[in-house]
Amino acid sequence: MIRPQNDPVEDFDLALSTSTSTVLILETDQKIIGAVVVGFDGHRGWFYYLGIKPDHQNSGNGRSLVTAAEEWLRHQGAPKAMLMVRRTNSAVIEFYEKLGYKVEDTLVLGKRF
Ligand SMILES: CC(C)(COP(=O)(O)OP(=O)(O)OC[C@H]1O[C@@H](n2cnc3c(N)ncnc32)[C@H](O)[C@@H]1OP(=O)(O)O)[C@@H](O)C(=O)NCCC(=O)NCCS
Repeated sequence: MIRPQNDPVEDFDLALSTSTSTVLILETDQKIIGAVVVGFDGHRGWFYYLGIKPDHQNSGNGRSLVTAAEEWLRHQGAPKAMLMVRRTNSAVIEFYEKLGYKVEDTLVLGKRF
């Protein structure tokens, strides 16, 4: 999930600095066990950095965090939630499919500033 070109701390700070993006965290016993960056671009809502600590996976926590992110996006007025999965992490697609997400026939292009 973390790549050399991305600094997660900087990315989380940036998400917290705009009114249309945020970081949602999942806590148990006052300890963070999961997080997701979520943002509305005015057309679609996007998730980034969804992760649950390994010892808290497979207990419905990922589902809870995605549900919370969807609720946050709906509240912002976003009509649809989107996310990108790295080809090297394609095993996670089954998780998203269980939550109602479908693989779309779209290529994603990017340009770094
Ligand atoms: C992907 C991730 C967030 C899932 O969180 P989780 O808490 O383990 O998921 P849940 O327990 O809520 O699972 C929900 C459903 O998805 C299924 N599921 C979870 N991970 C799965 C996987 N890798 N492959 C297939 N199904 C999976 C669960 O069995 C469950 O199914 P059920 O409702 O039929 O019981 C977690 O594995 C993770 O943090 N992975 C590493 C980071 C990562 O890859 N993030 C995604 C970046 S795009």
